[in-house]
Amino acid sequence: MKILIIGANGQLGSDLVRALADQELIPLTHADIEVTDEGQVQAVLAHHKPDVVINTAAFHQVDLCEREVERAFRVNAYAPRLLALACRDHDAVLVHISTDYVFGGDGGRRTPYVESDCPAPINVYGLSKLAGEHFIRYLWPRHFIVRTSGLYGIAGSSGKGGNFVEGRLRQAREGRMIRMVTDQVLSPTYTPDLAQAIRWLIRTEHYGLYHITNAGHCSWYEFTAKILELAGLPAELVPQTTAESGAAARRPAYSVLENAALKAIGLDDLRPWQEALAEYLRARQDRQ
Ligand SMILES: NC(=O)c1ccc[n+]([C@@H]2O[C@H](COP(=O)([O-])OP(=O)(O)OC[C@H]3O[C@@H](n4cnc5c(N)ncnc54)[C@H](OP(=O)(O)O)[C@@H]3O)[C@@H](O)[C@H]2O)c1
Repeated sequence: MKILIIGANGQLGSDLVRALADQELIPLTHADIEVTDEGQVQAVLAHHKPDVVINTAAFHQVDLCEREVERAFRVNAYAPRLLALACRDHDAVLVHISTDYVFGGDGGRRTPYVESDCPAPINVYGLSKLAGEHFIRYLWPRHFIVRTSGLYGIAGSSGKGGNFVEGRLRQAREGRMIRMVTDQVLSPTYTPDLAQAIRWLIRTEHYGLYHITNAGHCSWYEFTAKILELAGLPAELVPQTTAESGAAARRPAYSVLENAALKAIGLDDLRPWQEALAEYLRARQDRQ
């Protein structure tokens, strides 16, 4: 399979490059392609003629999206439209990464979202990502839309300057107090696990919408407590509410995804988030 990866040096992109190393890969960074540029998108697909295009590019700084609405829609909605059109022209499968933030997590909800649940975003980021999904869905059936949640990986998110785990470890090592919200519940997901699941998925022709996260759920506060416990780092961890955090964008109180569609085709073997986190901490130790 000839696979073109957009955002190949990003957090998920770099793990996709590793997970798919036995395939013919075209790993492209932002310097190689601007996904909002129609001419570039068409030229790149015409030149490489891939069987599969995986788009990890996004504008995912959630608070900034509230102010830079046009940019959010250009990167997260208009660009997926261009990619869907180009994939249709060149008969390539499109894999597009979306988010748990297409859901609102309203009304004390405590049941994981499945793919058939109706999205209702409560911030610009979620709205723009949902629009991107819709463009792909109505333009080009040979697609996999993959919603995931709370990503962390070895490369660290380029858009957010590192990953969540490293940020908390740094705060603890510097002896700083860590404030973390208790009222946002999600499924943190280790990017190598997600990359493996995508690897299996694209070998099938079961096109459509998939939720893919590590198993289980926790609040950002519980996630941080586990990071500190597994790393053996004492730190002052203080619970706070989302209202107290003063973030610009609203965030869902509950955005846990169930990998229901993946399970239905027998591919949901993602481990619990605690095991994935332990693996991440071991892997970073080995690199030091
Ligand atoms: N991070 C999370 O917690 C999270 C949660 C749920 C869903 N997601 C989704 O998962 C996907 C991957 O996230 P990630 O954490 O791996 O992101 P990331 O580390 O920031 O990687 C994104 C990659 O895309 C590139 N890129 C950004 N804008 C681009 C553009 N306009 N044209 C071409 N390339 C562009 C970036 O390059 P530069 O940095 O050089 O611009 C980077 O290489 C995104 O679709 C995101 O919405 C993320």
